[in-house]
Amino acid sequence: MNHRIQFQATGGPEVLQWVEAPLADPGPGEVRVRNTAIGVNFIDIYQRLGFYPVTLPAPLGFEAAGVVEGLGAGVTGLAVGQRVAYVDGPTGSYAEARNYSAHRLVSLPDTVSDDQAAAVLFKGLTTHMLVHRVWRRENGPWALVHAAAGGVGLLLTRWLTHEGGRVIGVVSTPEKAKAVEAEGAEAVIVVPRGGSYAGLAAEVKQLTGGLGVGTAFDSTGKDTWEASLDSLAPFGLLASFGRASGAPPAVELVELGRRGSLAVQRPTFFNHIATPEALRAAAKDLFDAHAQGILTAHIHTRMPLKEAGAAHALLESRATTGAVVLVP
Ligand SMILES: NC(=O)c1ccc[n+]([C@@H]2O[C@H](COP(=O)([O-])OP(=O)(O)OC[C@H]3O[C@@H](n4cnc5c(N)ncnc54)[C@H](OP(=O)(O)O)[C@@H]3O)[C@@H](O)[C@H]2O)c1
Repeated sequence: MNHRIQFQATGGPEVLQWVEAPLADPGPGEVRVRNTAIGVNFIDIYQRLGFYPVTLPAPLGFEAAGVVEGLGAGVTGLAVGQRVAYVDGPTGSYAEARNYSAHRLVSLPDTVSDDQAAAVLFKGLTTHMLVHRVWRRENGPWALVHAAAGGVGLLLTRWLTHEGGRVIGVVSTPEKAKAVEAEGAEAVIVVPRGGSYAGLAAEVKQLTGGLGVGTAFDSTGKDTWEASLDSLAPFGLLASFGRASGAPPAVELVELGRRGSLAVQRPTFFNHIATPEALRAAAKDLFDAHAQGILTAHIHTRMPLKEAGAAHALLESRATTGAVVLVP
């Protein structure tokens, strides 16, 4: 019998249940994928908390690596036994096996293990978007990266650095700071849990010779919003791409002008990979960077799929450096 994680009510990690989930044969255009490694992302926590509308009981998870186990009618170009991965809706990757649209699958090259694929695909493609479509290189090399030791943060630090960026990371512990420095950050500012971000902008200004950063990548949200705006150079960009500490406030356009003709953007991964062609092109860039050693996902821990609730609690506790992977 197939099993999956689902939730009957939104709430804390305890709402996640391990249930039997009978699986029909794959329909036309679908493939049965036996998941071998499942990526845990902060968006899964937002879903569980009910920040995005879901129909209950709801399955969970956007990404997994696995093996093709069966082909529905009309599927071409894929074979039983082939290694694949997916990183998109509908949710339901927290499962032993599932059916998925063939045209949204990515073939896995031999250079990427299943664990690495589950750790790097969602977070790495988000990083690809942030580096190639969001980063304002024309504003100079300095970039501020919040949650720099997180799953996205470490990859972003490394890729920006590789592209000539000068990264100032923000983390909550000295141990995390070491991990971020190892990915190439020029400076790392430690703001402990419960600490204030009020002095952050002054430190950033000092590190950048009074200028400020051209781009601030902010996935923390509410707690860091003001500090991010104040850290920007004139005409700088605040790329607000997450809300780990809560939703950021509404933007006053006049206020952006007053603070230095600033720009604010809300980049979203799903817009970046909106078509199968865009997904495959970005995945190719990512796997090439991985094969060349430019990017390697740091896996904080692997946990059994049944313990998805504990994995969520771990990620929410801010104790992780890099990615958490679930194993069915
Ligand atoms: N827009 C998009 O398309 C997109 C796509 C993927 C991910 N994201 C966002 O990117 C962020 C990173 O995702 P991830 O999966 O790689 O997670 P992660 O960075 O591994 O974990 C979140 C990190 O946020 C920091 N944080 C700061 N304040 C926090 C708080 N109050 N509660 C919890 N964490 C807090 C923690 O680092 P410190 O303890 O070091 O501060 C924590 O480790 C998330 O906000 C996610 O929503 C956005």
